[in-house]
Amino acid sequence: MANKKTNGSADTFGAARRFSIGDRSYDIVDHTFDAVVVGAGGAGLRAVVGCSQAGLKTACISKVFPTRSHTVAAQGGIAASLGNMGEDNWRWHMYDSVKGSDWLGDQDAIEYLAREAPDAVYELEHWGVPFSRTESGEIYQRAFGGMTTQFGEGPAAQRTCAAADRTGHAILHTLYGQSLKHDAEFFIEYFALDLIMDDDGACRGLMAINLEDGTIHRFRAHKTILATGGYGRAYFSCTSAHTCTGDGNAMVLRAGLPLEDMEFVQFHPTGIYGAGCLITEGVRGEGGYLVNSEGDRFMERYAPSAKDLASRDVVSRAMTMEIRDGRGVGKEKDHIYLHLDHLGADLLNERLPGISESARIFAGVDVTREPIPVLPTVHYNMGGIPTNYMGEVISPKKGDPDAIVPGLMAAGEAACASVHGANRLGSNSLTDLVVFGRAAALRCAETVEAGAKHADLAHNAGEAAIARLDHFRHASGATPTAEMRRQMQRSMQDHCAVYRTGEVLKEGVVKIDGIWGSIDDISVTDRSLVWNSDLIETLEYDNLIAQAAVTIHGAVNRQESRGAHAREDFPDRDDKKWMVHTLAWADDAKHKIKLGDRPVHTWTMSNEVEYIKPKARVY
Ligand code: FUM
Repeated sequence: MANKKTNGSADTFGAARRFSIGDRSYDIVDHTFDAVVVGAGGAGLRAVVGCSQAGLKTACISKVFPTRSHTVAAQGGIAASLGNMGEDNWRWHMYDSVKGSDWLGDQDAIEYLAREAPDAVYELEHWGVPFSRTESGEIYQRAFGGMTTQFGEGPAAQRTCAAADRTGHAILHTLYGQSLKHDAEFFIEYFALDLIMDDDGACRGLMAINLEDGTIHRFRAHKTILATGGYGRAYFSCTSAHTCTGDGNAMVLRAGLPLEDMEFVQFHPTGIYGAGCLITEGVRGEGGYLVNSEGDRFMERYAPSAKDLASRDVVSRAMTMEIRDGRGVGKEKDHIYLHLDHLGADLLNERLPGISESARIFAGVDVTREPIPVLPTVHYNMGGIPTNYMGEVISPKKGDPDAIVPGLMAAGEAACASVHGANRLGSNSLTDLVVFGRAAALRCAETVEAGAKHADLAHNAGEAAIARLDHFRHASGATPTAEMRRQMQRSMQDHCAVYRTGEVLKEGVVKIDGIWGSIDDISVTDRSLVWNSDLIETLEYDNLIAQAAVTIHGAVNRQESRGAHAREDFPDRDDKKWMVHTLAWADDAKHKIKLGDRPVHTWTMSNEVEYIKPKARVY
């Protein structure tokens, strides 16, 4: 059955099998599984492997072929305290991640991440990931920003396990290979439309469309695991694939559930100027450095100890300051140079072949002789679907800020566990994917009995998802989707960037709310259901605009600077008032955002490590 493209089997469970919208009708193909995983990147595939290993009947739904998922683009590596290149300790990794998060991360979840990381990497090694090797044959590890030894007091840690600069590619292909060994059923090039929630607030599965033939599918599952990645495409310039539209996040909003900490958007310091493609932080880990128009290695002024290996938010802000102060490079003085020409062709060929090629193709640069023009570029969303460290989605109820949403789980960039808090350290993302993909599967195995009977669904289960699909399929406004998307991306880029002020953010809120409110003017010209990219891009845009609204409303609201959220009008971190997670609900019909909050977990998972108290964050 593995990897089969299927139209499913006939199955009934109380719900109507055909819905009529106006004079059109849509037939439903029903499926029943123990667990359905949405997304086939690192987190999704690790969850699929784990659920299948536990004997659960598991489906994986992915809008792209699994090995095209965005994990494939991860370059520099996966963090784990293996200690292959010098002394290391998971407690130091935990400390660095808490500090990197600017004390917004939940420390029980961060402990889990750092503790589990070594085993997760060895598992990948045993499954066949072709890691680079040291002279003695161990997994090669490089330095990455914010990773240190001795609780920040020692030298940089070489903690990031690398497969040259194509680590995500190696991991994704290996995980897909592993998933094929098991009995999971893949629904490839199926686009998830919406969750099916019951009257008690439990998730009972989801609706999806098969992109190839337009058939509509209803999946019933005891657990639905969202591993749908980030929403970088809400911005104009990002390192994210065009597929990164946060579809799971948007489904959660439409289900009336909140997203968490969405104002924290990470800018990677080194996107290629103009093209946005990622140049890995591993370049600086291998000895590369940034210079301004005066040839000055300016990071020494901003982070005297860590210099170019300070954490990403710090480096991105320093670059922005240099450009603002007139020390940018190029004709427009609007970017920075990244030098790696001193590293030598041998090292570049062995450790950084991928970015050498990207620099040649996208910047016309021979990295053995010239610097790469770079600029901070949107790279990662710290915020997402709130979960506990077992991957269960949470939504506060009176008296319980961590109340679990039955049946719904999330992992990877879509989730906010929250291990990254206000700023993720580079190479903690791949760790997050495999550690929490596995954790979600373990939790499924604990809580689901394989083959257990499903309760009937409501008669109209899934009808609202089809009504939304039909609405956009027949949208006949005046503005093409591409134009609305461009307006949203430009507004986010201009109004919710590395540095923020209340005034600029408020202007952005007016623009984004206006664009969101004008969605009824959207125009879709292709009415078919077969490979209708016009329609799917419109559904993706609808997903993005709600997340853009949540992001910018959260950013206006948070009157402090923390991690990636740098308010010039509130330059200090304010732990008294703001050491809380933002929660945001979206009313999709009225285009309104409601904000609330949830306490940060100031406790650890075990007694083997103590809560790390907030202090000033200097590198
Ligand atoms: O720079 C990089 O290779 C990116 C890594 C990450 O975002 O974790």
